[in-house]
Amino acid sequence: MGFSGAPRLMIVSDLDNTMVDHKDKNYTSLLRFGALWQADYNHDSLLVYSTGRSPALYAELRSEVPLITPGITIMSVGTEIRYGDTMAPDLGWEEELNQGWDRDAIVEEGKKLDLKFQVESEQRPHKVSFYVEKDKAEEVIKTLTEKFKERQLNAKIIYSGGLDLDVLPTGAGKGQALAYLMKKLKAEGRAPGHTLVCGDSGNDAELFTVPDVYGVIVGNAMEELLKWHSEHSGDKSHIYLAKERCAAGILEAMQHFDLQPNVSPRDQARSIGTVGEASQMTASTVAHKVVDYLLLMENWLKGGVDKSDTVFSRLKSSLAPDASYVHAFGIITNPYEEIDTIRELHGVMKEKPFCMWVDRVRVEKMSDTTYLARFDKWEKLGELFSNKLLAILVLWT
Ligand code: GLC
Ligand code: MG
Repeated sequence: MGFSGAPRLMIVSDLDNTMVDHKDKNYTSLLRFGALWQADYNHDSLLVYSTGRSPALYAELRSEVPLITPGITIMSVGTEIRYGDTMAPDLGWEEELNQGWDRDAIVEEGKKLDLKFQVESEQRPHKVSFYVEKDKAEEVIKTLTEKFKERQLNAKIIYSGGLDLDVLPTGAGKGQALAYLMKKLKAEGRAPGHTLVCGDSGNDAELFTVPDVYGVIVGNAMEELLKWHSEHSGDKSHIYLAKERCAAGILEAMQHFDLQPNVSPRDQARSIGTVGEASQMTASTVAHKVVDYLLLMENWLKGGVDKSDTVFSRLKSSLAPDASYVHAFGIITNPYEEIDTIRELHGVMKEKPFCMWVDRVRVEKMSDTTYLARFDKWEKLGELFSNKLLAILVLWT
């Protein structure tokens, strides 16, 4: 499950139009969030994605945009919970959702009303999904609700994005899945210090009703979620309406709720520090250095920093001279070699849709003077993704 202790912070976020801004082809806010998470949270906190997408469409999104790897992935509107990098399914949750669920009966009712079914990949064991135009939604929901009541079916309807209509078991949904997860973490002695839920559309509303969470409705939220918010009676002080869109709204909410740190290394890219004394190092400062180092490298290639010896020397000073680079293919080099090869490449990526980011940063203390930082280094140039798994053995003497 990634980090295995009690998380300092758990962020539970929807993906489309919450974490991922489909209108921003540079993925600026997503990259800002990712850098912050890898530098300051990955070692002691838990990132959870909660999406309406099926595993197939989730995988598709991951191959298109610079998303970092979460500890837990909740898919198909809270009906599928998967853990860690291997995405091992939560069989207990599936078992719970099986109770009294009659999928065939739901499909039958949908057919009777001549509803338009979504694509096959989005029809899941505990989710039947249709497309219903906004102007017909109210009527369809009313009719379906009556039918389900007549036949005493265990089913609930969730309408999202002004088009998607999902039918799930009554005990499913993003909110119930999160409540289940929080109960499980608590039973394992791993209750998070704080939890922040983030969403933009109808299927996210339930997230905000889970006890003991902070919530953010991002600035670009859909009408149906804002309507839910304005009609929701009871305490709403834990829900923040962000001004900013998508992941920038999440960062804004972290500031609002004083969840620290909340300034992305991408917003302070020019303040990269020097390697420092071993005695001042922690797993977190090493993770921060890895993120800063790659950011500066990205900036050098994009010509976002001056082509000067001072800037160039900053690349070197963020790593100890005797550090080792362990490449995915087993070769060990000195990182200074890589740095020297990019000296002449200043600005080659200027104006190009190029970005670099790190994922799965894991830092281990090897001795009083040595840390091992492992991470995935990604690059994206237009549609082209390339990945290098790297590790840096950082030494201080
Ligand atoms: C995602 C899913 C879709 C679902 C929608 C709303 O787009 O792919 O099946 O209806 O989320 O929950
Ligand atoms: Mg969404």
